[in-house]
This record gives sequence, C-alpha cells and structure tokens, in this order.
Amino acid sequence: MKQPQKKAVIVGSSTGIGRALAIKLSAEGYVVGLAGRSLEKLEALQRELPGESFARAVDLLDSRHAIHELGNLIMEMREIDLLIINAGVLHPNEDLRWDWEEDMVRVNALGFAAMANVAVRYFLQRNRGCIVGISSVAGHRGSGRSPAYNASKAFMINYMEGLRQKLSMTPIKVIDVRPGFVNTDMLRGRKGLFGVVSPEKAAEDIYRGIQKGKPIVYVPSWWAAVMWFFKRLPEGLYHWGYRRYLAWDTKPQETS
Ligand SMILES: NC(=O)c1ccc[n+]([C@@H]2O[C@H](COP(=O)([O-])OP(=O)(O)OC[C@H]3O[C@@H](n4cnc5c(N)ncnc54)[C@H](OP(=O)(O)O)[C@@H]3O)[C@@H](O)[C@H]2O)c1
Repeated sequence: MKQPQKKAVIVGSSTGIGRALAIKLSAEGYVVGLAGRSLEKLEALQRELPGESFARAVDLLDSRHAIHELGNLIMEMREIDLLIINAGVLHPNEDLRWDWEEDMVRVNALGFAAMANVAVRYFLQRNRGCIVGISSVAGHRGSGRSPAYNASKAFMINYMEGLRQKLSMTPIKVIDVRPGFVNTDMLRGRKGLFGVVSPEKAAEDIYRGIQKGKPIVYVPSWWAAVMWFFKRLPEGLYHWGYRRYLAWDTKPQETS
C-alpha cells in the first residue's frame, strides 16, 4: 500500500537555513508549508520546489497573529507531521540599542514559544508528530556583543528541554538543533568565523538528525565537543577569551 506523503511546515523559510531545509524536504518527498514575513519570497521559492507546497505570511513580532496564521496554514495543508521553527534575528548590538534587544527577544524567544505552543497542542490531539527548533551554540554562554541573541537562544534550549519532559510519555519528539556558523545573511560581513558550513550542508545534517530522532543535534556534530569544553570554562577565563576573540574579529583587515 502506498504510504501517505509526509507534510512539514517551516517557520522562517524565505532565506538561509530555512530555505535550504524547504528544498531538502521537498526533494525528499515532503509536502512543504512555507511561513515567513515576505510572501513574495516564499512564492518565488515555491516555484523552485519539486513537490507540492503552501505559503503564508507569518510575522513572529506579532505572536497572537502568528499563532492564528500558523493554525490557518496547518488547516489549509489538512495535517502536518513536522514543524520546524527556524525564524530568528541577530543584531550585533555593542551599543545595547533597546529596539534591537527587543526585536531579538520578541522573535527568537516569544515568537518561538508561540509557534511551539501551536505545535504541542496540535500534535497532542494526534498523539504523534515532531517539533524542531533551530537554537544555536550561542545559547550555551552569554555574549557582551549581543546579550539578547544568546539569551534568547538559551531560552529556546531550556524551553525545548521542558517540552521534552512534558511530552516524554508520548510519541511526540522535540529536537533542538544547535548550529555553529552557517554561511547565511545573518553572518554577512563577519570576519572572525571558523568551521563555516553552507546552508545546504546544515540542511543535510538537520534532515539526518530528524530521521534519527535525536533530541539534540549540533551542526556540524563536532560542535558538541567544543561546547562541552566551553560550558565548563570559568566565567573569568571565558570573558578573557571572548575579549581576545572580539579584538581579532573587529581588527581592520590589512590591505596589500
Ligand atoms: N547562520 C548561522 O551561523 C546560525 C548559527 C546558529 C543558529 N542560527 C539560527 O538559524 C536560524 C536561521 O537563520 P539563518 O542563518 O538562516 O538566517 P537568515 O537567512 O537571516 O534567516 C532568518 C529567517 O527568519 C525569518 N524571520 C526573521 N524575522 C522574522 C519574523 N519577525 N517573523 C517571521 N520570520 C522571521 C526570515 O524570513 P523573513 O525575513 O522573510 O521574515 C528568514 O527566513 C535562526 O534562528 C538563527 O538564529 C544561525
């Protein structure tokens, strides 16, 4: 008997990792639901996908409206098996501008929790499903350069652990994906990067992690060992190392 086609929604799929995930899932035979602020970009992506897809404008800055619109998208698709919450913003914010701090907390923490809330309620009704949140290795320690970004990713990591505990007696999976550096618009212009991977490579690793059903997926996997070490660094030593890293990252490039 023919298996029914799997269906996935990706919140934040117009660019970068989300876009690469949409292409990967569509190529693997998923019906894909695309959600993000720019309907125009999502519709352009739809034309590139090999399989059936749906698109809807969802802005996580308005969490109530986003909840409503995600519900509408799921209804339009009739049902889904997988929800990937990928949307996120990063503003390097040395001056601690409040509008940027607020933006990161509202999208990365509040918006994420709102989308996860829809997914938990929806999948509990069906007693099956998989929720994936794209957090970051940045969630393991604070950052003076962008305090709200790292804190919002720590929120995601902690929230997903809570959801795993809540759902531990059900078949519903919650997968926390923690990328290192991925070559997307988010990192445009940054110099002090290492181990950078393409969005396509990140999407491959994330897809494999979902297939295996692992609760935590580092992208690439060697970040797990790096973070094991970083989490254990005493705070004073961590601040010293981070200051040196920033000095290297912001050093003007030599011209020949
Ligand atoms: N790149 C990295 O090195 C890296 C490392 C660790 C973790 N991450 C995480 O990976 C995720 C994807 O980032 P990326 O690197 O692929 O960056 P990106 O290309 O800038 O993608 C960000 C995505 O989030 C969406 N988005 C932003 N604000 C939104 C809002 N208010 N409502 C709905 N969607 C919104 C964007 O869509 P629209 O602009 O169309 O709304 C876009 O699809 C983020 O959560 C990021 O924190 C990235």
